[in-house]
Amino acid sequence: MRVKIIGSAAGGGFPQWNCNYRLSRSARSGMAGVHSRTQSSIAVSADGTGWVLFNASPDIGRQIAQTPELQPAADALLRSTPIRAVVLTNGDVDHVAGLLSLRERQPFAIYATAQVLATLAANSIFNVLDPAIVPRRILALTEELAICNADGQETGVVVDAFPVPGKIALYLEQRGDPSADFSSDTGDTIGVRISGAGSRAAVFYIPGCARIDAALRTRLADAACLLFDGTVYADDEMILAGVGQKTGARMGHIAMSGEAGSIAALVDVRIGRRVFVHINNTNPVLDESSAEHAAVRAAGWEIGSDGMEIEL
Ligand code: MLT
Ligand code: MN
Repeated sequence: MRVKIIGSAAGGGFPQWNCNYRLSRSARSGMAGVHSRTQSSIAVSADGTGWVLFNASPDIGRQIAQTPELQPAADALLRSTPIRAVVLTNGDVDHVAGLLSLRERQPFAIYATAQVLATLAANSIFNVLDPAIVPRRILALTEELAICNADGQETGVVVDAFPVPGKIALYLEQRGDPSADFSSDTGDTIGVRISGAGSRAAVFYIPGCARIDAALRTRLADAACLLFDGTVYADDEMILAGVGQKTGARMGHIAMSGEAGSIAALVDVRIGRRVFVHINNTNPVLDESSAEHAAVRAAGWEIGSDGMEIEL
């Protein structure tokens, strides 16, 4: 199985279009060791030909342009794609907006939880993907599912989806109550265990996660690879950077550092490769010369980048 990180940044990307923080400025100016990143998505292939996308980011056009494997093959039909299905891990803009760029009456399948499918159904703009051509299928939680193309043929990619602590999508939050708690444990945000049919080795993809509890630690034990929520290094980083009022926790994202952070929470869990993805444009690890980057690497984690490939 091949796994390609096609977008390693969080919502907004890196640099973010309107961000003048030092990191976005450094990326824009081409500073050494500060690399641009597109928004959150990975591509997985079991047979090296067909691909399953996990999340469809607003940058999907650029991601396809940068990834020959996702482009129509030279000998394929006049209109074709190697993308067989898209699996959504939540309804956030950075994970669903790219669906709109996959219009043009091209068959593929969409998989998501009932909540996320309800959000797509409630927003009529997604009808540019006619469900008669692009079927929408429920991703049942805690049940292994063979991901199929629009015609129901298996892709060879198998997914076991499970709820993780998270939050409803930002645009679904009811305005006017700044102290409201929008956290959710019931499938608004999911993680996925991805494997090839008949293979025991698995990659876990969890781009959004608010907390790591005992159940998640048990689930992750012996994973060949973990691609995990690396939105913020420190919980109060966006406030300290002066770009916003929200903590990582308020956004539904656990910090990398600190006693309650992901590095500490997973330190004694046996995992083959551990890679941070969904990295926000305020996260100092984006600068390869930073002390935070060094600390994360010393703790045994990799910093995901666009084009990074994991082979199982
Ligand atoms: C998130 O991961 O918190 C969201 O992508 C934020 C957003 O929608 O901008
Ligand atoms: Mn996001």
